[in-house]
Amino acid sequence: MIEVLALGRRFGDFWAVRNISFEVGAGEIFGFLGPNGSGKSTTIRMLCGLLKPSEGSARVAGFDVAGEAESVKRSIGYVSQQFSLYPDLTVQENMRFFAGVYGLFGDARRNRIQALAERADLAGRAKELAGDLPSGFRQRLALCCALMHQPRVLFLDEPTAGADPFFRESLWEWIAELSAAGTTPFVTTHYLEEAEHCDRVAFIDRGTLIALDRPQDLMRRHGGSLEEVFFRLVQEQAQWGVGGAPKATPPVSSR
Ligand SMILES: Nc1ncnc2c1ncn2[C@@H]1O[C@H](COP(=O)(O)OP(=O)(O)OP(=O)(O)O)[C@@H](O)[C@H]1O
Ligand SMILES: [Mg+2]
Repeated sequence: MIEVLALGRRFGDFWAVRNISFEVGAGEIFGFLGPNGSGKSTTIRMLCGLLKPSEGSARVAGFDVAGEAESVKRSIGYVSQQFSLYPDLTVQENMRFFAGVYGLFGDARRNRIQALAERADLAGRAKELAGDLPSGFRQRLALCCALMHQPRVLFLDEPTAGADPFFRESLWEWIAELSAAGTTPFVTTHYLEEAEHCDRVAFIDRGTLIALDRPQDLMRRHGGSLEEVFFRLVQEQAQWGVGGAPKATPPVSSR
């Protein structure tokens, strides 16, 4: 569902993402983990067809992110890290707007909005302004809007940042349901403990992939918690001189 080959993005002289490659299968819950500024959002924006890669290529749902960006956008849902709703529209108005953008009208629109509002526990808040919602409900509304057209791939950029443990848990339950129904969720987070909800995780540090595997295999191979594994790999990687100007090409995948 997602194929990434030697993908990179440069801003001026600075490489925000450098030479990353991986594949994600249909329905697989893929976690993209890394600290602040490591290149998570830059990668997602390239995969959503919003930002042109400087090098390499990627296909999402069968479409090339550079040459077929409009087809990519129709196949995906994207919840950005920033607030992406209309704060001065109500919950219902936001959902209607996004349904319209995706070509849903009449009964189809009504039914889809109702089903999503119930799933998100938003049915009783239809008339509230999006800007007035508590942050957990705002995130749920953003997710409803991104799911309106039943996308094949769902990109969630730090959906749990700053959220309470209850919301975080309920969001991961929803992600698991979506995956079981055939959607492919691609989720970034800097909460390493959330990796246990993922089928596979990629660790990104200073724009470079430093590990890619099933969470339990990473812990078994390296010993310790995922947090310990991550910091050990970062230290090892530093010896290779990553971060924009590699001294040598470090071993990247299947570590
Ligand atoms: N438009 C831009 N122009 C210049 N530099 C940028 C731009 N966008 C991102 N960067 C830089 O690229 C690096 C990666 O940024 P990115 O937003 O992808 O990281 P991130 O992993 O999503 O971080 P966070 O966890 O804080 O959201 C950072 O150093 C950032 O400052
Ligand atoms: Mg980010």
